[in-house]
Amino acid sequence: MQLAARPVAGLHGELTVPGDKSISHRGIILGAISEGDTVLHHFLTAADCLSTLTAFQQLGVPIERDGTTVMIHGVGLHGLKYPGKPLDMGNSGTTTRLIMGLLAGQRFETTLFGDASLSNRPMRRVSEPLAKMGADICVTEGHLPARIRGHHLHAVNYQLQVASAQVKSALILAAIQADQPSTLIEKLPTRNHTEKMLNAFGADIQTESDKLTIHVAPQPALKGVELTVPGDMSSAAFFLVAATLVPHSKVTLKNVGINETRTGLLKILKRMGGNVVERHRQDRGEPTADLVVTSAALKPIEIGEADIPAVIDELPLVALLAAKANGISRITGAGELRVKETDRIAAVVREFSKLGIAIRELPDGFMIDGRQPWQVNKPKLDSHGDHRIGMTLAIASLLVDEPLQLDGAESVNISYPEFFDDLASVTSVEIDS
Ligand code: S3P
Repeated sequence: MQLAARPVAGLHGELTVPGDKSISHRGIILGAISEGDTVLHHFLTAADCLSTLTAFQQLGVPIERDGTTVMIHGVGLHGLKYPGKPLDMGNSGTTTRLIMGLLAGQRFETTLFGDASLSNRPMRRVSEPLAKMGADICVTEGHLPARIRGHHLHAVNYQLQVASAQVKSALILAAIQADQPSTLIEKLPTRNHTEKMLNAFGADIQTESDKLTIHVAPQPALKGVELTVPGDMSSAAFFLVAATLVPHSKVTLKNVGINETRTGLLKILKRMGGNVVERHRQDRGEPTADLVVTSAALKPIEIGEADIPAVIDELPLVALLAAKANGISRITGAGELRVKETDRIAAVVREFSKLGIAIRELPDGFMIDGRQPWQVNKPKLDSHGDHRIGMTLAIASLLVDEPLQLDGAESVNISYPEFFDDLASVTSVEIDS
């Protein structure tokens, strides 16, 4: 597709970004295994979350959807049914890994498969720790397809080997089915939606003050809830970065989730000299706020391993910020980017180089000199089939004068189907002075 041209008068207006992807997945999963009904408002109706919704329907859970409102008639922790055929995980790593933990403790056998990108992503990081709990999971050379034979699970005391909320969540969903309390110890704090949401549904998950040690009580009595999914910080991020970089911009993003395990980008923007103001903070389980962002000149940044989990999905955008900062930035400790929907380090370096950005690939990140003027040497960009790469490149196109093409633009449907409409709405607003 043809990408939007540089908006001379900046980006302006107000946006309500779609519901949080992580919370939407978990809302379906926890609603399914609770007793009674769960209602989710502002559910993310993007391909990834629909993979979760469909999988649970196939597992015998009645689920109705009317636009972004979803009603789940929970079947309880032991009420899922043999689906009769393999479950399609689509492109969704979160669906796959969380469902593995849950199905490991059920009483039937399931097979999971996914698309080409998902079938390349590592699954032993989940199947191996689950095996320590007695799970019987057979992956294909470390990847999907996976066959899960439901099995009685026992408790564990386990130190996670990767900083991954998906792995942690899989283990928590197994641990609630075990016979005794389990303890999980993270390497670094990762997003904690599973813990917070499970407690809201009636479970007993305690995180120690180190934010790393998590105690999971087994066999909780889960009860359905009604909740409004906050706007997704990872979707708002595209506009936070766009409005920062395009001069004369001012955009308000309404009701964005600002859980502290997700706000790494806000902290990085602040350190770089960005202008983001929080308004109308609320906390109904998950904190939210309106974020008002205006353009700013940026300083370079150094970020390392400890900063990564809270900004893991926004790192391509951090690279874009660095490409306009007045010095050399270094992003390291981000090796996990190599096993996302695509190798995001290689994809960012390859596509940014087409725009003449001075970027160097590191084994676990990038080095970027934002002082070098951009010079488009190849106007045909490629999302590599990865939603976040596609949207990052669409934002980058707002910073060049030449018309650019984006191959694989439809990948945005994975997490943000309205992305191009929302982008058009803030790039074409009439401004009266
Ligand atoms: C997610 C966790 C992250 C993130 C993904 C969603 C989740 O993955 O990249 O988009 O919902 O738990 P990892 O925990 O594997 O880094």
